[in-house]
Amino acid sequence: MPQKVRKAVFPVGGLGTRFLPATKAMPKEMLPVVDKPLIQYAVDEAREAGIEEFIFVTGRGKVTIEDHFDRSYELESVLEERNKEVALNTLADSMPPTGTVAYIRQREPLGLGHAVWCAKRYVGDEPFAVILADDLILSKTPCLGQMINTRDEMGGGNVLAAMEVPHEHTSRYGIIKPGFDDEKKVEIKHLIEKPDPKDAPSNLAVIGRYVLEPQVFDLLENQARGAGNEIQLTDALSNLLKTSPFYGLRFEGTRYDCGDKIGFLQANIAFALERSDMGQEIANHIKTLAKDL
Ligand code: UTP
Repeated sequence: MPQKVRKAVFPVGGLGTRFLPATKAMPKEMLPVVDKPLIQYAVDEAREAGIEEFIFVTGRGKVTIEDHFDRSYELESVLEERNKEVALNTLADSMPPTGTVAYIRQREPLGLGHAVWCAKRYVGDEPFAVILADDLILSKTPCLGQMINTRDEMGGGNVLAAMEVPHEHTSRYGIIKPGFDDEKKVEIKHLIEKPDPKDAPSNLAVIGRYVLEPQVFDLLENQARGAGNEIQLTDALSNLLKTSPFYGLRFEGTRYDCGDKIGFLQANIAFALERSDMGQEIANHIKTLAKDL
C-alpha cells in the first residue's frame, strides 16, 4: 500500500470576480448550495475520504470561513435554551475535530499554484489532496475518495479528477494529453493549460480535485508566472510529470462550476432535487415554470 493521504489543502484565497457583487464582502466559498456553504461540502468530502488534517489557504476578507469552522457559543446557548437538538447536532457535525484545522494567509492572490505552495510547511513530505470548493460534485461516492482508491490501486503517484468537456471549451481548462486509457483512468502524458481548441490534444479536462506527491512544492517554489500572469498549478504539474506517474480519473458524478453563476444555480437545483425534505416540491415548481417556457 502507498503512503496514506492524510492532509487536504483548500485554496480559498481567490477574489471570485466572476460572482460579483455577491463576493464583494463574502467569500465565494461561503455561498450556500441549498443550506450548506460550498466550503462545507468540500470539507465533508475530504472527511469521508479519510482526510485527517485540513489546511486552508485564505486571504483578506475570508475570516467568515474560520468562524464557520469554529464554535459559536452564543448561538449554541440559544439553541440549547430552545431545545433545538437537530440544529445543534448539525453545527457539531460540521466541524472537524479540534487541532486538525490550520489557516495560512496567502498575502496576494498570485494564483492557484502559489496558494498550494503556501501550504508547503504544513503538508511536509507526504502525499496530499487539493480540493477547490467551487467545483462541487454530486456523486454516490465522494470524488476524492474515488481518487484515493485509484491511487492505492496504482501503488501511488498523482491522481487528477478528469472530465470530458465540449471541444470548444478547452480554453477554459487544463487539458490532458492521454496515454494508456482504460476508459476510467487514463495515463497523463502531458498537461496543457487552457489550450485553444485547435491546439488541444484531447477534450479531457482537469477539474478541482488533485492528489499530489510532495515534490510538487519544490517545482512550485521556482515556478514562473504563466497564463493570466498567475503562478499556475498546471505548469508545475507539467514539470512533475517528467519524474512522477500521473493518472486522470474519470470520476463517477456530476461536477458543477459554482464559481460561475449558471453552474451555481444548476447545482442548487440538482442538490435540492436530491433532498427528501424538498425534492418533490422543487420538482413540481420546475414543472410549473417549464410549462411557460
Ligand atoms: P479561480 O480561477 O476560480 O479564481 O480559482 P477566483 O479568483 O477564485 O475566481 P474568479 O475567476 O475571479 O471569479 C480557483 C481556485 O483557486 C483559489 C480560489 O479560491 C479557487 O478555489 N485561488 C485562486 C487561490 O486560493 N489563490 C489565488 O491566488 C487564486
